[in-house]
Amino acid sequence: MTQHGVDLLLVLILASLGLSALAIFLSMSRHRRQHAPSAMPPSDDVASEAARKVLREFEKNGQSVDAALVTWSPETLRKILADELPDAQVIVVSNREPYIHNETKDGGVELVVPASGLVSALEPITRACAGTWIAYGGGSADRRMADRNDRVQVPPGNPSYTLRRVWLSDDEYQGYYLGFANEGLWPLCHIAFTRPIFRESDWEAYEAANRKFAETVVAEARNERPIVLVQDYHFALLPRMIRERLPEAIVITFWHIPWPNSEVFSICPWRERILDGLLGSSIIGFHTQFHANNFTESVDRFMESRIERADAAISYGGQMTLVHAYPISIEWPVELLESLPGVEECRTRTRERFGIPGEAKLCIGVERLDYTKGVLDRFHALEELFKRHPETVGKVVFLQIAAPSRGTLPAYKQLHEECLHLADEINQRYGSDDYKPVVMVAEHHKQADIYELYRAADICLVTSLHDGMNLVAKEFVASRDDEQGVLILSTFAGASRELLEALIVNPYDAAMTSDAMLQAITMGADEQRERMRRMREIVRDNNVYRWAGSMLLDAARLRKRGELDRVTVSDQPSAPTGENVVSMFERKQAVGFR
Ligand code: G6P
Repeated sequence: MTQHGVDLLLVLILASLGLSALAIFLSMSRHRRQHAPSAMPPSDDVASEAARKVLREFEKNGQSVDAALVTWSPETLRKILADELPDAQVIVVSNREPYIHNETKDGGVELVVPASGLVSALEPITRACAGTWIAYGGGSADRRMADRNDRVQVPPGNPSYTLRRVWLSDDEYQGYYLGFANEGLWPLCHIAFTRPIFRESDWEAYEAANRKFAETVVAEARNERPIVLVQDYHFALLPRMIRERLPEAIVITFWHIPWPNSEVFSICPWRERILDGLLGSSIIGFHTQFHANNFTESVDRFMESRIERADAAISYGGQMTLVHAYPISIEWPVELLESLPGVEECRTRTRERFGIPGEAKLCIGVERLDYTKGVLDRFHALEELFKRHPETVGKVVFLQIAAPSRGTLPAYKQLHEECLHLADEINQRYGSDDYKPVVMVAEHHKQADIYELYRAADICLVTSLHDGMNLVAKEFVASRDDEQGVLILSTFAGASRELLEALIVNPYDAAMTSDAMLQAITMGADEQRERMRRMREIVRDNNVYRWAGSMLLDAARLRKRGELDRVTVSDQPSAPTGENVVSMFERKQAVGFR
């Protein structure tokens, strides 16, 4: 067949696909209209037609930047902002602040960078964007260190962005953060078999705290059209609240933890309110497609909305929200590595510090002390290893660094006790005067100290029972410029979708994890190098600048299309016609813009 013939055939196939998709789409719209309850916003159809035109523009302009071909760095982010979103003010909102000022016993002030994946990912981004970061001021010296507008310039010593602190009363903090966010939503979203607790008073505090943050966003916005990056499950209501006050803002919400299936989600007494709040976002991001799908299912089940599956978009209340997977990551290269000693020195220092025999293999675990992290499970796996392979006793030490977290909550207190108890038991059963198989340090560690441990370790265990991404896995990989070390990684952590050369385990299966430990202990240097090299390439290419850059590019396109759309709508105020209904096929192409 001639080239012309091939082209013609292609056009015919596309046209027929487009037509049948258009027919399905129209019949679906009709079906929805017939079944829409009166609560359905009357403007929905007109507005979603407009939104569909926005999506169509993506395709028509053929402007999509292929994310995979870009080298992602702070410079790339700055360029995206300058070129694609000129004059846009980036505002980050999270509960946890990136820098906490605490009072010391002698009346001084110490600076703490919290142990939080969210903070380590967002910090380099906010620096690159020179934005404003709004967060709860929870440190005992936070007020003292803020100016009279509650602002601090950070990072200290080399300021590049503004931290705006929000103050919460003890009751607000208790109800919003400890209560609804961490006793309700946290266990609801993680499959870790801890029962969520829902209290009316916590919900009220959650709503009030979200409102307080919304007011702060409005106060910090320099114009009507900021780009607001809302972080995590502490702020499910915030996107809607921002949308009401700043209708032209681009609100990108990132949910850092898993989203459960709709059956599990249904037990939340305020499920519709949460979904409605989140659907105030322009874009909602999850770490994995699986969690994005779970979210869309929940919306489909509980909200009167139109799901445009092929577009990964939801039309609700006259507004379109894109629902995408953006796997979070870490900065690359890791800046603080430059100031760290070589691997050999890290090994020697760590072994001396924790009394680890020179010939023993060092396994490490690093996390917040949280029941979703599978700390007990990895202790069980170590026991299993000793039982099944007694020759390994004396040859392995497990160093568990566990940063205290949410320690006033009963589930966390109980976990802490259980961990100490099990570690003691194992040490008594398998240890001796000069050998302690488990060393558990329940203390906060600085990032530099953690990186030193990563570099000192032979094996890093990440055995989360359920985790959105888990950045420890990526940090370990990034720290190993010697291309040595083995990562054992839970299949239930989002990171396992990317780091395929890790030894992937089911943490509920102690025998399987112990097999992986044995494999790791006996793995030769060549195999370690091969696996580590590949994982390093993945983390380098999919770094945190790519994560943020992809979202900002999507935001830029939304904004541009919104502007075009406003022009078109004011030119043509008439009702939508067949012409501006985009076929499903077209829309699928249009939204494949990541
Ligand atoms: C983990 C989760 C984040 C969450 C953070 C909160 O890092 O992955 O999604 O924001 O915990 O921790 P915090 O100590 O602030 O309660």
